[in-house]
Amino acid sequence: MSWFHNAIFYQALLHAFNDSNGDGMGDLRGVTDKLDYLEWLGVDCLWLPPMFDSPMRDDGYDIADYRSINPRYGTMADFEELLEQAHARGIRVITDLALNHTSDQHYWFQESRRDPAGPYGDYYVWGDDPTRYPEIRIIFTDYEISNWAWDEERGQYYFHRFYTHQPDLNYDCPAVQTEIFDIVRFWMDKGLDGFRLDAIPYLFERDGQGGESLPETFAFLERLRAMVNAEYPEAMMIAEANQPPRETMEYFGSGNRVHMVFNFPVMPKIFEAVATGSAEPLYDILDELPPLPADCQWGTFLRNHDELTLEMASPAARTRMYDAYAKDPRAKANVGIARRLAPLMEGDRRKIELLFSLLMTLPGAPFIYYGDEIGMGDDVSLPDRYAVRTPMQWEPGPGAGFSTGETRWPIVGGEGTSVAEQQLDDASLLMTVRGLIAQRKAHPELGTAPYEAVETGVEGVFGFQRGDLLCLHNFTDADVDLGPVELGPYGYAWVPIEEIGDGAV
Ligand code: GLC
Repeated sequence: MSWFHNAIFYQALLHAFNDSNGDGMGDLRGVTDKLDYLEWLGVDCLWLPPMFDSPMRDDGYDIADYRSINPRYGTMADFEELLEQAHARGIRVITDLALNHTSDQHYWFQESRRDPAGPYGDYYVWGDDPTRYPEIRIIFTDYEISNWAWDEERGQYYFHRFYTHQPDLNYDCPAVQTEIFDIVRFWMDKGLDGFRLDAIPYLFERDGQGGESLPETFAFLERLRAMVNAEYPEAMMIAEANQPPRETMEYFGSGNRVHMVFNFPVMPKIFEAVATGSAEPLYDILDELPPLPADCQWGTFLRNHDELTLEMASPAARTRMYDAYAKDPRAKANVGIARRLAPLMEGDRRKIELLFSLLMTLPGAPFIYYGDEIGMGDDVSLPDRYAVRTPMQWEPGPGAGFSTGETRWPIVGGEGTSVAEQQLDDASLLMTVRGLIAQRKAHPELGTAPYEAVETGVEGVFGFQRGDLLCLHNFTDADVDLGPVELGPYGYAWVPIEEIGDGAV
């Protein structure tokens, strides 16, 4: 078992977590100042977004220089201090690495467009035919109508899976692969504990085969993993691969690709189960996901900084989800819903807790999105996915303890929705979430024990066994009596099997 099997992960957006210098923008020192809070909550690993220099047209996922710290967030010394302070508290730190594409402001791209025959000429995917790769879907459907853009300077089109200003790197160019290996080494040598590999399915494109999960991509991951195993054996890489279930699992390989993969197949099913009052979507999806190779782990999550993606949902499921969760059409973003956990649950404490309990007990290591532990709201009037990226609420009142300056994005607020208030109230969501984290830690078998479905005989009640623990979750607003266990509306229970007796549930 590795450290990440039982780690509690916490995703904090740098610009939105805590502003140490009053310029209205969260920063690295701000995060360092809140490490005590993360330790108190029970966090084992902090996930930071791309912190590199960037024009910030995609919140830093548009990288202009992989080896520098974005000055908006601080300095390299600030980053090193954050790492040191986190490690001193036993908290690991991983960061996002967007390696499928760069910003068009990156030096490589500037050179590539200027000098096709030069050393960077092949670093990007250039072509003369903007209809090439017709099978490749567009991801940012709200903003883009093609994956190709015309570059006046070079007189060619370049390929981009995301925004036009994010040209795709050309992984067929060996020098690009070498650059990425060296960037990984650069940060690992500083003591970083791992990476989230952003948009990893899209590294290669092939005529007739599209541009997702190609054999070449897996071969690259295997080489990257071999290097990491040899040079940084404690490091962890987690893949963002939002693909159909079996394809998602391919990112583990036989344990020779990435260590962890976000469980995109399960995530929307959790919300579908709540919306329909039926446990069936979860039984079905978990049936489809066989056990993982040794030493691999799912990253289980409810929400993150993106829309709640429905790209892989069937048309019927997508409609059900939009009907349930995007009644306000502004909540739709690309193919999904940009809302936070608490508003998705219409502020219903019972449902929010139910989902946190699932997060802690489903196969995988839990990832918590900052602010969800206090039931923070969102602001659907904001563009793109910024509805779910508003400042963390530390205290009541103006600035929310986040900043003394004028913030770029509004603070959502809401009475009682702050860390300070909830820390004083034993019955608060924050204290409940903290308790669930502690409970998860008291059951280390949840990190590795296989998932076994348990039929409860009640459509709305999801039952499964992990090791010696029976986990029950009621997706309905009705009381349920299962014999030895009673569940209130949206109730949940983690029951040691020996307390139940044979075949009672
Ligand atoms: C990933 C990130 C998303 C970003 C995109 C392009 O999907 O999660 O926030 O916009 O990659 O880098």
